[in-house]
Formats: sequence, C-alpha cells, structure tokens
Amino acid sequence: MKMPKLIGPIFQTLTLDKLPIKGALKDDQLEIIEKAGILIEDGKIFKVGNWEKLRKEFPKAEIFELTGEFVAIPGLVDCHTHGCFGGSRAKDFAMRNAGKTYLEIAEAGGGIWDTVSETRKHTIEELATITAKHANRHLSDGVTTIEVKSGYGLSVNEELKILRAIHAAKKYTSAELIPTCLAAHTKPKDFSGSNIDYLKLISEELFPILKDERLCNRIDAFVEKSAFSPEEINPYFQKAKDLGFDLTVHADQFSVGGSKVAVAFGARSADHLEASGKKEISLLAQSDCISVALPGASIGLGNGFSPARELLDQGAALAIASDWNPGSAPMGDLLTQVAVLATFEKLSTAEVFAGITFRAAAALGLSDRGKLVTGALADLILFPTSDYREILYHQGKMKPVEVWKLGSKDVLTSDQNYQKG
Ligand code: NIG
Ligand code: FE
Repeated sequence: MKMPKLIGPIFQTLTLDKLPIKGALKDDQLEIIEKAGILIEDGKIFKVGNWEKLRKEFPKAEIFELTGEFVAIPGLVDCHTHGCFGGSRAKDFAMRNAGKTYLEIAEAGGGIWDTVSETRKHTIEELATITAKHANRHLSDGVTTIEVKSGYGLSVNEELKILRAIHAAKKYTSAELIPTCLAAHTKPKDFSGSNIDYLKLISEELFPILKDERLCNRIDAFVEKSAFSPEEINPYFQKAKDLGFDLTVHADQFSVGGSKVAVAFGARSADHLEASGKKEISLLAQSDCISVALPGASIGLGNGFSPARELLDQGAALAIASDWNPGSAPMGDLLTQVAVLATFEKLSTAEVFAGITFRAAAALGLSDRGKLVTGALADLILFPTSDYREILYHQGKMKPVEVWKLGSKDVLTSDQNYQKG
C-alpha cells in the first residue's frame, strides 16, 4: 500500500453525501464540512473529517497543506460529449444565425454529415490527439470523468476508428474517458439502403467487434424525425440489450418519441429533452432513467432549455452535461452552461452540483464517484473561495486551482493542460 495523502485544511468541503438520486434538492440539504482534511489511500477516499484530527490520527500521511481558503467538491462528470471529431462547423453557426434551422442545414447536406466527412479524413492517432486535447481542457475545468461518443464515422470501419481513437487518447490524459457507440447518429449519405438496413448492418457487424475488442459498453441512438424513428430503433436496441450493452438515447430534442423508447428499454439516460411535455416528464420521473439536460445545445442553437425544474419537481433524476460537439454545442464549458441553466430554470446549487457529479455518474452506470465519501474514487476539485455559492455565481469564470484524479494532483493551469494533447 502506498503512503496515504492528506489534503487540507479545506474551508468548506461539499461531500454531496446523503443526497437522493432523484428529485428536487435544497441547498440546506448539502453536507458541508468546515476546516476539513481529505485522506486518500490507493486512489480512493479513505476519510473526510476534521483536518487537525486527521493529522494526529495519521501522522505518517504525506501532507498536502493548503494556505488560503478553498472549497472542495467532487470531480465533475460530463456524461454526454461528442469529443472526438474533425473540422469546424463555424459556417453552420453563421447560417443558423442568418435564419436557417439546424434541420434545414442537415437536410441540405451540412450538419452532422459535414463533420463525418472531416472526421473520416483523420488517422486514429490524429483523432486521439484531438480527443485528448478536449479532455485536457475539460480536466483543467474540473471534469475528471468524460463520456465520449463516436457517431462521426457512420460505417463499421469508421466507427471502429473513432472508438479505437478514444481508447488511444487515454495515454495523453488523466481524465477518465468512457466511450459510447453512436453509430445510430444519422444514416450516412453514402449508404444506399434504408434506415433499417443501416441499423441492421451496424448491429450485425459492429456490435460483435465492440464486444470482442471491449471497445465500449454503451449504445446511443438519435431518435428524431431527421435521424431514426422509435420503430426503427426498437429492433436495434433490442439487439444491443440482448448483447448486454447499456443504452442511452438522444431523446425529444426537436420532437417527442425518444424518451418513451429510453424508458421502455430501461436505458441509463434520456438526453436533450428540450421538446418533452407533461407526458414525457411524468414518464421519466416515474422511471429510473436519468434525464440529462444539455444547455450547451440550447445555447448553441438558440433553442429553449430542457424542462429541468419541472423534471426535478416531478421527481426525476436530473443530470446536466455539455454535449460538447462541433455542431450544436461548440463551447464545451460545462460549468458556464450549468450556471446559465440554473438561472433560467431556477435550479438550486445542490441540484446543479448533484447533476454534474453523482447523478451524472449514475447516467454512466457508475456509483463509485461523484461524492466525497469513504470508498469513493479520490476525484476532487478545489476552488479558490470560502463560499461554495461563488462557484456558480461566477458562471464558469472561477476555475478550480487543483484537480485531483484517482488521488493524484493533475492540473496546473488551463493553458498548460490544453497543450498536453
Ligand atoms: O447532441 N442531436 C444530435 N447530435 C448532436 C449534435 C451533433 C452535431 O450537430 O454534430 C447533439 O446535439
Ligand atoms: Fe449529443
């Protein structure tokens, strides 16, 4: 066993302990330990408690003494990104602002297909570098676990290339990358068969390789008029479920339908939900499916936000993710996005922090992180303030000064880390 590490004293430590996975939260439900120490052993949290007491109790621990006032929260979890892509869609952004809609641009051959063409031009190693660059920027912003979807390959070989690139990116970042297969993003323009034919090909030829190479354990699909209908996705998801994959859905972004598929298949999460109405909200609230709001896509497209307040009030489990992608959500700044969502949807700090820590981890099927409690992964971030409310108040401009992943201190400055990839 390695020598334990003791970090402190920390002015406020928000453990997020004892908070439920579902429903609305008030800030007075937050457990805040003042003048705390965090003891880490073998990459996990061994104890969170009074700094002085821990120092006496563990005299042999390696001390990481802090001078100044800091707030500690768990490392952030971004449960929905498309961080492996080539090219830029600045022209789509300009076209949308000139009056064209996201769907019109997609129908005219731009949109996702444009990024597919750009992404296909890159080698695995280039895509790994790009992915790591995104991951390291996220890491320096405090995001220690990052889901990354494929979906810009759209053929068996090109999807494999992307998923292999996501794995290869792990050597350039200490953020944890969780790959998801989004081959069902849209039917590629160079495929001559029907939507059903395309999904059949993917499920028959790609799924077994994903299993054999252990490339990913998660299957996503874009259920939308411009992509795949619920009827087309049902057999695809059934095949994925039979093979033991976890499911997640791009649901109710422009029109409803996806959330019902997500709940029916017991998907881990239904993401987007901008178009969800009363029926969809109540269905999600009564299920164990995590509802994931993606404010970055609302900001990028100029659309309304997902009904986060209503979902929480009805009892749903709400996570919030960046949706970082070149088309609808190019900003990729999770903390800025959640702070903006909080002001429009009237979310408490507790609801936001839960939504980007343990509730987001649950959307990935992970229960080992997102809380600063004994036994959890030692993923934690420190902000230079004495009041936890300052973090969202600064709307993403207050950056963590220390980021710890699996018990190791990683980030120094945003710039340095951005260069790492
Ligand atoms: O989550 N909605 C579908 N997929 C992405 C956008 C992808 C793209 O436009 O490149 C999203 O918003
Ligand atoms: Fe997305």
